[in-house]
Amino acid sequence: MDNFTFYAPTYFAFGKDAENETGKLVKRFGGSKVLIHFGGGSVIRSGLMDRVKASLDAESISYVELGGVMPNPRSGLVYEGIELCKKENVDFVLAVGGGSTIDSAKAIAAGAVYDGDFWDYYEGKPVEKALPVGTILTIAAAGSEGSPDSVITKEEGMFKRGASGEAYRPKFSILNPALTQTLPPYQTACGVTDIMAHLYERYQTNTKDVEVTDRMIEALLLTMIHEAPRVMEDPNNYEARANIMWAGMMAHNNSCGVGRTQDWASHDIEHELSAMYDCAHGAGLAVVMPAVFTYNMKHDVMRYAKVAERVWGCKMDEACPENTAKAGIEAFRNFLCSIGMPKNFEELGAKEEDIEHMAHSACYGNGNTGYVGGFVPLGQKDVEAIYRLML
Ligand code: NZQ
Ligand code: ZN
Repeated sequence: MDNFTFYAPTYFAFGKDAENETGKLVKRFGGSKVLIHFGGGSVIRSGLMDRVKASLDAESISYVELGGVMPNPRSGLVYEGIELCKKENVDFVLAVGGGSTIDSAKAIAAGAVYDGDFWDYYEGKPVEKALPVGTILTIAAAGSEGSPDSVITKEEGMFKRGASGEAYRPKFSILNPALTQTLPPYQTACGVTDIMAHLYERYQTNTKDVEVTDRMIEALLLTMIHEAPRVMEDPNNYEARANIMWAGMMAHNNSCGVGRTQDWASHDIEHELSAMYDCAHGAGLAVVMPAVFTYNMKHDVMRYAKVAERVWGCKMDEACPENTAKAGIEAFRNFLCSIGMPKNFEELGAKEEDIEHMAHSACYGNGNTGYVGGFVPLGQKDVEAIYRLML
């Protein structure tokens, strides 16, 4: 196991009606003037917004609002939010929604206390200072509720970039599984896929002897395999929603990723797809992951065979572990199809003629210097070949 430090000081309030604690939590973490940030309106339609405002009112906390965050959040709204925060002397940013809203809120929080262009952070400048951020999560997926990351799409050129820094770690996150019961099945499945992707990205490691984190990842993958079909069958299954929601946080606050190298090739390759075609991040990952795993398999057959055996229940072929590794990738692909995820470029709406451009952008954007992936370094030609596997 490699040396590491781990500091993840988010306060979690989990369970039914937890959103009624919003006002108290904002106060606890020093907020007196709040920007409530939200997406396309699901939180208004569900009645959540009224409860959040009532909770802030009860603590005499004033607020301004900015809605309209789109999935794959855009830089334009971030600039608007920064202006609003400065004009209204906002001292706390509250995200009510999914990963897109939370990521947009984080970007606003950083830009509000920075004299330069917030996009500097998305070109590699570490985020050292931001207004405090709190979240009320409505979809289990991105893990932004416990992560120090944010991903924004720049409208000029439509490319997607990430920024990271401890200042982005939410001060508190409210996780009420019941809030996810209004999700359309497709969004639920996209979330499940993203959570599993965050686990696989960490599982693909070159670090030896990391049994504790291997076993944690395997446990979370097994949980997803058990709970996802239950929630697809009955969207109101609170217990299944609860297990998925906490797994989503655990999958990405890095408790399963410490002390080991990680991959993230699938994410870099996917971000080009969701930026270019505006598909859901999880749907893009469903198409990308089996292709990346197939391409990288020979690098460490036993790693893929191990997850196949322990998680997917494939029988280990001692004479030819490659067969086991392949069976595990196939089982994962079938699972994703069974919950309604796309399996190729066509189903995603992606086009073959864009492959070269996307491969170049993946390898040379986002601070990358010609390669993606920490498991196998993949250059532009490799990434092009991987996109072709998705045709
Ligand atoms: O905008 P509204 O009206 O709220 O509708 C949203 C949106 O259309 C809807 N939704 C969310 N909760 C709902 C609901 N509809 C009904 N009932 C509810 N309870 O779902 C749609 C998708 O929402 P979005 O926030 O985009 O989903 P997700 O959480 O999957 O976020 C995706 C974004 O996160 C980024 C992705 O790249 C993508 O931009 N990621 C962020 C990460 C991070 N910050 O750590 C890591 C991830 O790997 C990922 O890259
Ligand atoms: Zn993701």
